[in-house]
Amino acid sequence: MKRKSLVSINDYSKDEILEILEIAKKFEEQPNRNLLDGVVVGVLFFEPSTRTRLSFEAAIQRMGGRVIGFSEAGSTSVKKGESLKDTIQTVNQYADLIVMRHPVEGSARYASEVASIPVINAGDGANQHPTQCLLDLYTIQQTQNTLDDLNMTFVGDLKYGRTVHSLSIAMTMFKTTFHLVSPFELKLPSAVKMHIKDANLPYHQYTKLDEAIPLSDIIYMTRIQSERFSDPMEYERVKNSYVLNRELLQNSKPSMKVLHPLPRVNEISTDLDDSPQAYYFKQAQNGMFVREALIAYMLGLKV
Ligand code: CP
Repeated sequence: MKRKSLVSINDYSKDEILEILEIAKKFEEQPNRNLLDGVVVGVLFFEPSTRTRLSFEAAIQRMGGRVIGFSEAGSTSVKKGESLKDTIQTVNQYADLIVMRHPVEGSARYASEVASIPVINAGDGANQHPTQCLLDLYTIQQTQNTLDDLNMTFVGDLKYGRTVHSLSIAMTMFKTTFHLVSPFELKLPSAVKMHIKDANLPYHQYTKLDEAIPLSDIIYMTRIQSERFSDPMEYERVKNSYVLNRELLQNSKPSMKVLHPLPRVNEISTDLDDSPQAYYFKQAQNGMFVREALIAYMLGLKV
């Protein structure tokens, strides 16, 4: 049995990532495969979620496994002051695998060090969201028939957007040209940009969206992460920085697809939803197939 945790997308090599994407294709063909008989997965969400938690739970159930856990830490002994270490040590006794979302950066790494079973990071604060990254890669490959030599445009909150951090780092494996569109205050952090620089890949920074649109193979929209701002006035100032609509896409490549990890607030106009270039709801569906593939891969199960 493979037992490697997935905390940061860097924990897995390019070959490992590509293998998981190949397995995900099999789950997309047939999502219901009885591979987890007797397996219990602890799904621990200390922060709100729709897609990540439900797609993990759907994935586990479609594979015949069972879920324990919570979607709200207020219903657990955390409310009585229990430490993260004690919570993880306890779930470690009951489950075979832990999926955890937590608001504190580094908490998933800490949990993986405390637990003897593998831990999957389902988002730790503004740091990383590696399973979103896998489903984003799967979706990009599905729409462009390749992951290589693409023009990737990231738009919105590049500072606090953990999905952007994981995906930017992963795309450095694939000769990407990066177009980074954000308000000045919400630029991609230097630590993430360093991965692009180290890979000698081109990147361009913009504060306006329109310049990058005609160049893009993928436009990856993100929400301004209100919950990460210490100053609500600062959020108010930047919250409506970008709104993508049909008109703005007039000069885009016909093959270009718009992705978004969701939830959206108002950064994609609903007039785009029935455009052939809108791919964000299919992207969310892919999350279930990719999470099935990841669990099978981590547990060393033959698909
Ligand atoms: N993409 C994503 O993480 O969505 P949720 O917050 O709904 O899980």
